[in-house]
Amino acid sequence: MGQLDGKVAVITGAASGMGKAASMLFAREGAHVVLADLNGPGGEAVAQSASETGRKCVFQRTDVSAEPDIQALVARALSEFGRLDVMFNNAGIGGAIGSIEGIAVEDWDKSQAVLLRGVFLGIKHAVPEMRKVGGGSIISTASVAGLRGFQGLHAYCAAKAGVVNLTRSAALEFAKDKIRVNCICPGGINTPILHRNQPGVKDVMEQWMAKAQPIPRAGHPEDIAGMALYLASDDSEFVTGQAMIVDGGLTIGSQFSPRDPAAAPQTAIPPRGYIGPSFQG
Ligand code: NAI
Repeated sequence: MGQLDGKVAVITGAASGMGKAASMLFAREGAHVVLADLNGPGGEAVAQSASETGRKCVFQRTDVSAEPDIQALVARALSEFGRLDVMFNNAGIGGAIGSIEGIAVEDWDKSQAVLLRGVFLGIKHAVPEMRKVGGGSIISTASVAGLRGFQGLHAYCAAKAGVVNLTRSAALEFAKDKIRVNCICPGGINTPILHRNQPGVKDVMEQWMAKAQPIPRAGHPEDIAGMALYLASDDSEFVTGQAMIVDGGLTIGSQFSPRDPAAAPQTAIPPRGYIGPSFQG
């Protein structure tokens, strides 16, 4: 028995990275999946692989920032499978990068359109169909960048913080309909959004990311797919409005660790012992 037997899921950004991993896992757990992405050939290939699990999965080319595309995507779920139980708003881009003073307004707007409007549209058009079947689960991919600042990632940080708080306000509105709304805040996950499929870069990232947080390995798309499965399944039926952090401990404290004393700044604090009031020396 699969954890998603009988459920129908839409997953955006399904051609790559976390969306691809979630599509494969959801299908293995018994869901029919409608995969959505801007990348047509990539999305078709993942849909074919996911269908090899024995569950029919289909691809719909979609720009998540365009309302007619999201409407057509939800309509496809209904025409293929007759219902919608899970909406995973996961598609994303890096968006406008660099100093605030250097960001063009058009790049700011394009970033928000994909990263924040896309999530709003996914929620807006999933909800009526979920009501018809007595409830559902909406999941969005936010980021640890929605919880803290990152240098030069202003548009991304603002959009992801928007996703975190939209999750809360939507969860309040739809709890009475048994529609749960949650988001996932990944830390560093080694996917094409970072390595851009450039030769060798994925391996370099793997080494670098292993030192970036307390759990000494890079994050992988399957780490996020596992959380998405929990949120999609009935195991999480008492969980709503939450930002689930999956980051290898990145946000729990300082990145300096005894594993790498050379990286720690020199201070007057001794390596061991008892630290009393500072005036006592
Ligand atoms: P990815 O680049 O491997 O996958 C993102 C997918 O979204 C791609 O297939 C891309 O074609 C698709 N996409 C982009 N714009 C689209 C649009 N307008 N309409 C439809 N599809 C579109 O990247 P990854 O890492 O799997 O990203 C998934 C989500 O995770 C994104 O929302 C990203 O912001 C978020 N995230 C990623 C982190 C990381 O370290 N990789 C960390 C935190 C959050």
